[in-house]
Amino acid sequence: MNAETLSQVEEGALFQGFVLVARKSVRQSASGEPYWDLVLQDASGRLPAKVWGEVLSSHGGIELQEGDTAKVRAVGENYGGRRQVKVLRFRPVRPEDGVDASALLPRSPRDAEAMFVEMMAILDTISDPHLKRLSDSFFREDAAFAEAFKRSSAATRIHHPYVGGMVEHVLSLLRIGSFLASHYPEMNRDLLLVGIVFHDAGKVIELEGLDYSTEGELLGHVAMGYEMVRERMRRLEGFPPELMLQVGHLILSHQGEPEYGTPVVPKTKEALLLHFIDNMDAKMFQCYESLRETGAEGQAFSERNWLLKRRFYRGGAEEQAAPPDGTPEKKS
Ligand SMILES: [Fe+2]
Ligand SMILES: [Fe+2]
Repeated sequence: MNAETLSQVEEGALFQGFVLVARKSVRQSASGEPYWDLVLQDASGRLPAKVWGEVLSSHGGIELQEGDTAKVRAVGENYGGRRQVKVLRFRPVRPEDGVDASALLPRSPRDAEAMFVEMMAILDTISDPHLKRLSDSFFREDAAFAEAFKRSSAATRIHHPYVGGMVEHVLSLLRIGSFLASHYPEMNRDLLLVGIVFHDAGKVIELEGLDYSTEGELLGHVAMGYEMVRERMRRLEGFPPELMLQVGHLILSHQGEPEYGTPVVPKTKEALLLHFIDNMDAKMFQCYESLRETGAEGQAFSERNWLLKRRFYRGGAEEQAAPPDGTPEKKS
């Protein structure tokens, strides 16, 4: 009845292995004792976990934070129809464990290769020869970049924070963008698609695994992506300077608002649209994630999403309010 991966853990099964702490909140039990509410992660998936007060006190103040890797011993439970584990023992990973942390990284639920193929099919519809050249120079002729792009996450925490997250996010934007480019008059579809595919390209180098690299930390993905793509456009023979400016503007302005760290606000219709769909995709991700991963099974609301400052409604509050046999309450 032992489970070797988190996805194999069933009720009563014992799990012992290395995991990544994907989420952590410190809560209080009914008796006022603090406990940890965690989401543990290994390559097989994620699972909610509880570390109760008596286990915490027997571990003499050992801390685990989000993003830490740890060795845990835990037992599978069924909590309101959901699988979770109760942690019995834990300790942070030591160098002598020889654990390759990247093997524990979360992965996109979809196959990155398949998404990449789909992405390329959309990019192949670009008719402007210069923009097509630019796209090919990265995705067809620069194998190192294409590989890194497929592995890259879209962000550390906020949205698509897993291996393959970048290609998933970009593919989603390409589909939305293709659709909206035909909706709005005189939208330059080629330019929009190129803006989409490169808007977060700086993250391919900004993020190492799921952490920021030193360069990423100091320069940020907006400037890094701009520099990388501009450099390439300069090297492509006969690339029109006006087009270079437009592509550069798309990358530099995609964060949209000064409070999101943009050096310049969107000043073309393609740039404004790119900002909106980028923002939309990230927020919809947050909404789905809250509904999927937080709040107990059968609860009408998710837990509070701190970025979007609200709880999401799953539906079903009426059914829960009704008495168990389903008969309406009698008025006295
Ligand atoms: Fe971005
Ligand atoms: Fe983005």
